[in-house]
Amino acid sequence: MKEFQKTYELRNGVKIPKVGFGTWQVKSGEEAYNSVALALKNGYRHIDTAAAYQNEKSVGEAIKDSGIPRNEIFITTKLPAEIKNHEEARTTLLKSLELLGVDYIDLYLIHAPWPWSEMGKDCSKGNVEVYKVMEEFYKMKKIRAIGVSNFSPKDIENILNNCEIVPQVNQIGYFIGIDQSETINYCKERNIFIEAYSPLGIGYLLSNEDIKKIADKYQVSSAQICIRYLLQKGVTPLPKSTHENRIIQNTELDFEINEEDMNFLDTIKGDPRRWD
Ligand code: A2P
Repeated sequence: MKEFQKTYELRNGVKIPKVGFGTWQVKSGEEAYNSVALALKNGYRHIDTAAAYQNEKSVGEAIKDSGIPRNEIFITTKLPAEIKNHEEARTTLLKSLELLGVDYIDLYLIHAPWPWSEMGKDCSKGNVEVYKVMEEFYKMKKIRAIGVSNFSPKDIENILNNCEIVPQVNQIGYFIGIDQSETINYCKERNIFIEAYSPLGIGYLLSNEDIKKIADKYQVSSAQICIRYLLQKGVTPLPKSTHENRIIQNTELDFEINEEDMNFLDTIKGDPRRWD
């Protein structure tokens, strides 16, 4: 079995394939359908989407048409960051099940602790309210694992203090150059698994000369170095691509970056998301 198809185990025992296929900014319709179909054809068994990506229907169709048994595919979707009340959370969750065309979701996350247009706003009460809906669906076995995304330690603390089930996952933006150590250490201490979105730094890291040098040394691409780096950090990277050759390349991860080179990659600094 190739490295990307192996699994980690979440705190409740659910197995999660080590690398997931991301679909952020992948347009609904042909683009989302084709990229997910190509990912599944090339061995991915973990697909990450969100209600906010507006492509759940196409993702679900590609999964269904693949003919792969449902229990062999790990599907993640997310509750939109703007929804912070019981009623809407329930309707949206049901809608995701319907659009994806599935009886259960493998992993369901609160997309962010605050609406994207009000980053940093205190939504503690709302987060607890929607998380409790997720707990209900978890108990009804409509969701196999529940968690959060873009949550800081303080945001998670709020859930731990007011809810019953410890989040199984925190999905964060994590890639070479960004310092997420505070959140990662906090989560690791509590056995909350980390998933890394934008593993290529939204593509920005692919033109980094230092990464290119390491890639040449291992005779792989910069993208492969970025993804492998995260695997060696013990997290699940979620690379995305709409091109088959890249989709395949991003699964070729059966090599080891040595300790010295990992340490060097750790010294690279810069978060492109803060530079615009
Ligand atoms: P495309 O979809 O045209 O292949 P991130 O996952 O960090 O958000 O980065 C995604 C971006 O990186 C996308 O624009 C994607 O473009 C591009 N990309 C993904 N895999 C590769 C690869 N192996 N080589 C070059 N570009 C890639």
